[in-house]
Amino acid sequence: MQIAKDIAERTGGSSATARDMIDPFGRAITYLRVSVTDRCDFRCVYCMAEDMTFLPKRDLLTLEELDRLSSTFVEKGVRKLRLTGGEPLVRRNIMHLIRSLSRHLDSGALDELTLTTNGSQLHRFADELADCGVKRINVSLDTLDPDKFKSITRWGDFDKVMNGIRAAQAAGIKIKLNAVALKGFNDAEIPAMIEWAHGQGMDMTLIETMPLGEIDGDRTDQYLPLSQVRANLSERFTLTDIPYKTGGPARYVEIAETGGRLGFITPLTHNFCESCNRVRLTCTGTLYMCLGQEDAADLRTPLRASEGNELLSNAIDEAIGRKPKGHDFIIDRTTRKPAVGRHMSVTGG
Ligand code: 5AD
Ligand code: SF4
Repeated sequence: MQIAKDIAERTGGSSATARDMIDPFGRAITYLRVSVTDRCDFRCVYCMAEDMTFLPKRDLLTLEELDRLSSTFVEKGVRKLRLTGGEPLVRRNIMHLIRSLSRHLDSGALDELTLTTNGSQLHRFADELADCGVKRINVSLDTLDPDKFKSITRWGDFDKVMNGIRAAQAAGIKIKLNAVALKGFNDAEIPAMIEWAHGQGMDMTLIETMPLGEIDGDRTDQYLPLSQVRANLSERFTLTDIPYKTGGPARYVEIAETGGRLGFITPLTHNFCESCNRVRLTCTGTLYMCLGQEDAADLRTPLRASEGNELLSNAIDEAIGRKPKGHDFIIDRTTRKPAVGRHMSVTGG
């Protein structure tokens, strides 16, 4: 009973039932991230090589299949769905999937339907997203300088992203900015970014670079521990730890001077795996139980093997039954290889 109670506390009060997915470490899986495409219209230097090869289109699950898979997770206790990519809004007809998944918000089965986007297509979809019940989204933005933006994203257009952010805000969608902290790139700019974001009514989260996938450069050169960023910020701002949670791994502070919230996602300096509540599904139907481990389960085969969901449901249970305890990322000069071979664009953020 104590375990059920602990889980209930961690999952926001709803008590665990038999159909819920509980992993071997007693963690309830209530959050699914779905990468709807591995493609992206940017080539961020810390994420991809410029000549990145993507999956052949024929390997992708259809939108109907992604819907069926996601909905099976919702039936099994997932309360929060995040669509990611690559860039989720470059997948053709993506609004069809989002509209369809929004039925789970209407029925009360889902607490939140959200996405992580680079903002490039947001101006086109903001109103429709709001209409589908999307209330908050994460927009990735690593700098406020248009020239630096071009150099970090290689292909991105800063003005388009700004238009997208404004369109989403005008549609009533709350935005959280995600910035990857990069040494020698945006460290000096972080305080100004925080002031800008908070001034526009947006939360902001800083992320440490994770060793995922081969890139053109060396990650050791880019790695900036957030413990250091936080120490620097404390000299300028008054930071107070707050218990605010969004279901993800960020730990938040409130900044007295701006009145806004700042999150820290610190996979390297502070491992947060003990409270992990999530799994990640790729656009080919592969389920990754941990962002930092290679182990995965094929859900496409059971999905396609029958019209009913029993095989699929069993395969999901089996996969959750081997969710690992955590990752062991390290970035140093002696560890040249990424912790896992796949890129962030396979499983999304
Ligand atoms: N390490 C940390 N963050 C990354 N992102 C992409 N690749 C990496 C990486 N290797 C970020 C993006 C976006 C989110 C989805 O993940 O900038 O904010
Ligand atoms: Fe695209 Fe996001 Fe990777 Fe940048 S970090 S290339 S926006 S998937």
